[in-house]
Amino acid sequence: MELFFYYKNSLYCEGVKVGEIAEKIGTPCYLYGKNSICSQYRKFEKAFSTLFPLICYSLKANSNLSLLKILKNLGAGADIVSLGELFLALKAGIPPEKIVFAGVGKREEEIKEAIKKNIYLFNVESASELKLINKIASKLNRRVNCNLRVNPDVEPKTHRYVATGRKESKFGIGWKEVAKIFKDKASFPKINILGLHIHLGSQITFPEVYQIAIKKLINFIRKERIKVDVLDIGGGFPIQYEKKVPSIKDFAISIISLLKELRAKIIFEPGRYIVGGSGILVTRVLYLKGKFVVVDAGLNDLLRPSLYGAYHEIVPLKKPSGKSFIGNIVGPICESGDFLGKNRRLPLSLKEGDFLAIKDTGAYGFSMSSNYNSRLRLPEILVSQAKDRVIREREKYADLIR
Ligand code: LLP
Repeated sequence: MELFFYYKNSLYCEGVKVGEIAEKIGTPCYLYGKNSICSQYRKFEKAFSTLFPLICYSLKANSNLSLLKILKNLGAGADIVSLGELFLALKAGIPPEKIVFAGVGKREEEIKEAIKKNIYLFNVESASELKLINKIASKLNRRVNCNLRVNPDVEPKTHRYVATGRKESKFGIGWKEVAKIFKDKASFPKINILGLHIHLGSQITFPEVYQIAIKKLINFIRKERIKVDVLDIGGGFPIQYEKKVPSIKDFAISIISLLKELRAKIIFEPGRYIVGGSGILVTRVLYLKGKFVVVDAGLNDLLRPSLYGAYHEIVPLKKPSGKSFIGNIVGPICESGDFLGKNRRLPLSLKEGDFLAIKDTGAYGFSMSSNYNSRLRLPEILVSQAKDRVIREREKYADLIR
């Protein structure tokens, strides 16, 4: 069954009428469905089950504590990029031995704290970082697990802002230098180099992209005779926003046999795939002004359309029928780039005061929101077993001067 569906002309989320939540909580607000999150996680797990991988949910997609607890109960680990995310992952009860730490610019205090908290490994992005981790480990008298993040120089065929696997991008270490570091392992006595990490980009819609990168990895490992016990494939698995995308099974089928050749422990770091389709942003129409539909949510609440030109389906909470018009759904922010959808078909009967749902906003929605224009950050609601619960309160004006 679809997560969000019309019943008697009203939009429902897992058994709860969305309009009633919007009236009660006020708009804009984010709304998530628990069943959908669980089912996405299980689909991912099932697709790759023959590899027995460690699935480290990427917190940057959505780090609401209640969602993290759901994922922890399903057995997920965490892919983190900051001490804030480490704090949240541990708070949710995710065991440190399932936490991996990525990022091109880890600070000394972050490395120190993560070592003290006994995380599983660091995905290291430069020789200098490796040196620093070695130095800190030595001071703390500890041995620390690391994977080297390779920049595989593969074209991920996705939006240029979220493509990370190309040579020109700031991420990872080039092949030659990775080989050099492996040969020079002895200069990092406090580090166990467990293996390699790749993350090619986000919303990757071609399974071949993973295939190409993994084949490159295998050739490299054989040529350089490197011992790889752990291989972290990163995230990037897509959801359907507008155009249909291959299923997670399609991705699994195209890479499982390659990965098995390596006999390494496999890690995945999905973010968007787990939570993206499980959330909507509910907003109210403030004004109708020619082709512009001015709503109460803006780019500070959902940045993806403005930043990437991303498409999110927008539907009225009242099932549309009858004649329609083509309009631009725009926010209240003082920027021309503040739009949520352009040239969208909307019912001619749409009135000021009506609600709209912006779909597929569970990932990189709230987590990329800000206080721009001194607006308050939004509440988040979780629907579970036909009940809704506030899992983050709307900010208050006092929060703006804290
Ligand atoms: N692992 C690493 C090292 C990452 O950098 C990312 C995302 C992930 C895993 C999770 O990727 P996912 O499975 O969610 O594609 N704000 C952009 C997406 C940026 C992704 C950054 N890194 C957007 O809204 O499309």
